[in-house]
Amino acid sequence: MKTRVVVLISGSGSNLQALIDAAANADYPAQIVAVISNKSDAYGLVRAQNSGIATAVLDHKAFASREEFDAALRDKIDSYQPDLVVLAGFMRILTADFVNHYLGRMLNIHPSLLPLYPGLHTHRRAIEAGDATHGATVHFVTAELDGGPAVVQAEVPVEQGDTEELLAKRVLAQEHRIYPLAVRWFADGDLVFRDGKAWYKGDVIPASGIKFK
Ligand code: GRF
Repeated sequence: MKTRVVVLISGSGSNLQALIDAAANADYPAQIVAVISNKSDAYGLVRAQNSGIATAVLDHKAFASREEFDAALRDKIDSYQPDLVVLAGFMRILTADFVNHYLGRMLNIHPSLLPLYPGLHTHRRAIEAGDATHGATVHFVTAELDGGPAVVQAEVPVEQGDTEELLAKRVLAQEHRIYPLAVRWFADGDLVFRDGKAWYKGDVIPASGIKFK
């Protein structure tokens, strides 16, 4: 039985596409059972439909509070009985109740070498700081924003004259490699969350994640 994955998006869904492409291989241990967006015009919904994956839209603006939205989102997600929830450019702050409901079975990808630069505008911040390297991190989601234990991290050199857009594009290319890998590890049972930490094949993963080469 393949691991059932629900992917949450808000936009382009290029990471979703990387997961769809990975899951198209017969030996990939996970299947995407649904894609849910809080935005009806998210291009990722088209990507999902093109691949015959169920989609749903839950517009956060239709709810009176964050708590009500998160409760409805949780019900929608759980209707697909996922083993794993994957945040792929889902641009919402989540309530602690929601996060705790999926503790140990929800992953996020963030475009920085966490713990550097949680939050937005990570590429700009890395360039402005004069960093030599930037990158992306897959991590388990905990109640602290972009603060859960890291799983895998890919480094990208910052080049002379880099713009936010150029750097973002190169980081995104690495995101598309590490996210399907992390989902594969989880589905294979090699990656687990225990005692607030991420573990790979029985060892605690270092704070900055497994380095992806
Ligand atoms: C990615 O940069 C991801 O790291 C961040 O949001 C962006 C989503 O891009 N969380 P896409 O929708 O997967 O193309």
